[in-house]
Amino acid sequence: MTQSTVRPILEGKSSDAWKIEPSSGSIGAEVRGVDLRKALEPDAVAAIRRLIRERLVLFFPDQSLSPDEQRAFMRQLGTVQKHPERPRVLEGSDEEVVVVIPVDGVSAVWHCDYDPDFVPCGICTLNMVECAADGGGDTIFVNNYRIYESFSPGMQQLLDGLTAIHRNTGNGGRVRDEARFPLVGTHPDSGRKVLLYSAHHVQDFAELLPEETELVLARLRTLTQLPKFACRHHWKPGTLALWDNRCVQHYAVPDFSGSRRLYQVTIEAPLPVAIPKAGERAQPISPIERPLPDVAPRRS
Ligand SMILES: [Fe+2]
Repeated sequence: MTQSTVRPILEGKSSDAWKIEPSSGSIGAEVRGVDLRKALEPDAVAAIRRLIRERLVLFFPDQSLSPDEQRAFMRQLGTVQKHPERPRVLEGSDEEVVVVIPVDGVSAVWHCDYDPDFVPCGICTLNMVECAADGGGDTIFVNNYRIYESFSPGMQQLLDGLTAIHRNTGNGGRVRDEARFPLVGTHPDSGRKVLLYSAHHVQDFAELLPEETELVLARLRTLTQLPKFACRHHWKPGTLALWDNRCVQHYAVPDFSGSRRLYQVTIEAPLPVAIPKAGERAQPISPIERPLPDVAPRRS
């Protein structure tokens, strides 16, 4: 994506001065020239929505938002998701703004983020307050559209019919340990087919034998790790990252020592719509209901 191809996205006076640089050929863009501490004009909100839809993850450097400013920014885009368990397990958090202090090795798996009921989150933000002192701790984001589109039509047809079983091995205070979602859905914003897939959490398919599951999972994991579908972000204090968690996986590179500090806010967004089988109508994706175990919140 070049400056000229992003220009149609930025029609409107509020976004004339924005500078947008793609992060890679597949995903991501850095956005400068907008002050997220101020209330945004409607055309600026619309431009951000279009950029998320096209680039999936956006990086806004030099914002240095306070927790309340980050919350206020996200409220302009949607309904902020509540995480009632987080104030009890993560010091300094409230139900909407979560203080994250990851240490070496945490989140060093390919994953998407989940809400307390173990449903994939909608639109997520991370606000880097304090970076790792040694310069490590980049985050890699990968495009789940591109992974799906790299399969042959025959394999896509197989994937379209699979029910993915997500297992919550780390818990992180969530009450549900397992949920099932169709592996492929139509994204409500783009209208394109996409994998609702988190490599760390999707461990089985309802329709396949164990040996077949391993074959499909191995291919999905290999594709998730291909640099050509990804971008790697080197953090600086004050940067806000905003991504569509319904079509993006991320990975925190565990090459730092000590800790860092971030604020996390997410907003609700409808999940992709399940691909209808012959004779069926399209249905929103929802987890297959099962009794919720009585699990005490734990630190992720
Ligand atoms: Fe995460």
